[in-house]
Amino acid sequence: MMRDDNKQADDFPAPQRAAASSPRHVGIIMDGNGRWATSRGFPRVEGHRRGVEALRRTIRIAGEYRISFVTIYAFSAENWRRPAQEVSYLLGLLRRFIRNDLAELHASGVRVRVIGSRENVPPDIISLITDAEEMTKANTNMTLVVAFNYGSRQEIADAARKLAQQAVRGEIDPAAIDPAMIGANLYAPDIPDPDLIIRTSGEQRLSNFLMWQAAYAEFVFLPIHWPDFDRAAFDTALAEFAARDRRFGALSAAPADPAPVGRAALTGS
Ligand code: IPE
Ligand code: IPE
Ligand code: MG
Repeated sequence: MMRDDNKQADDFPAPQRAAASSPRHVGIIMDGNGRWATSRGFPRVEGHRRGVEALRRTIRIAGEYRISFVTIYAFSAENWRRPAQEVSYLLGLLRRFIRNDLAELHASGVRVRVIGSRENVPPDIISLITDAEEMTKANTNMTLVVAFNYGSRQEIADAARKLAQQAVRGEIDPAAIDPAMIGANLYAPDIPDPDLIIRTSGEQRLSNFLMWQAAYAEFVFLPIHWPDFDRAAFDTALAEFAARDRRFGALSAAPADPAPVGRAALTGS
């Protein structure tokens, strides 16, 4: 089972939201940092700095609401196209986030996972990521998935390549390749698909985020920039989610596991 409904970190307040209408996995496209800053006359990077504060707040609230999985889009495979100075500021923020916040996340029972390609990633960041994953691997209150140097097309292409290599070695029959096999070769095959994807900044696109996994996700686009994301905004998104009628292709909502082609099925959960 992926859910840990009976477990809770000591420092997370009493659960306020554990109904079936709440998402098990929330994906967040934290967008609008630059616009938040420039509209106030600040350099773009000030928006990123404030964005980390919004992230801390969000993780705490998600813990209170007992959301089992939170995936945050921290840096896309395409974000390398930005000016070198901004890229290096963002890499620095990730370093500082892991160094400063990991102990608290660990104490709160948060497991940290990082999805994305390790290509082009500075070696010191790779070791920080590896250490964070290793240190928190037994935590069960919440899983924080950090999508870093992540692109959904790259992830699917990587899965296709792995399957092709297995086929060439004669380990699998190409005719047997199905959605479950592709799902099993993505970066984090044991994590259930997102139920809800929130994007701030008013943009209404995925920008290469969890395209495979979002097949049946509900989308909520908020007209605020990421540094302004707070409890009220989170509550708005969750209320919107609770009001949606999820059908998964059938005529009424599926009762238990929502994913029709869930990767969870592969792990027997
Ligand atoms: C999101 O804010 C943070 C990252 C992409 C890393 P942006 O930097 O995209 O801010 P806008 O969209 O330009 O305002
Ligand atoms: C998506 O935001 C990536 C992250 C939030 C990390 P972008 O700002 O990079 O997306 P586009 O370029 O507006 O589509
Ligand atoms: Mg943006």
